Amino acid sequence: MTERTFSILKPDATERNLTGAINAVIEKAGLRIVAQKRIKMSRADAEQFYGVHKERPFFGELVETMTSAPVVVQVLEGDGAIAKYREIMGATNPAQAADGTIRKLYAKSIGENSVHGSDAPETAKAEIAQFFPDAEIVG
Ligand code: CMP
Repeated sequence: MTERTFSILKPDATERNLTGAINAVIEKAGLRIVAQKRIKMSRADAEQFYGVHKERPFFGELVETMTSAPVVVQVLEGDGAIAKYREIMGATNPAQAADGTIRKLYAKSIGENSVHGSDAPETAKAEIAQFFPDAEIVG
């Protein structure tokens, strides 16, 4: 089933000029980048986006990291896009990520793990809507 997922290329990736390298992995996996923009995430954006983690001990560090440098936000489209992107991202902790995954290839640590991808259809919908009006998504 064709679906859409939301992706972030995080500050550790943009700072190391890895946008193109990561996009190549995404496209090679058959996912289509149907929306993309480079932004500086505001504190309010980051706090809203990661609201589900508000009570976690790493929340403050997470918000600091995500607002420390530009990010690239994206909408990816394809067959089973949510699961497929999670598969090619690899485990949240790069030390546990499988060979060939984006996090195994590029991530520095669990907090600077290069990419984010939605975990379910409802979160994908909400995350896409936070950053992209419908008119900016061109499939
Ligand atoms: P992400 O997929 O963007 O979703 C939540 C993020 O919180 C996660 O990637 C990690 O970057 C970060 N995170 C999760 N666990 C920890 C942790 N123990 N310490 C620091 N950051 C974490």
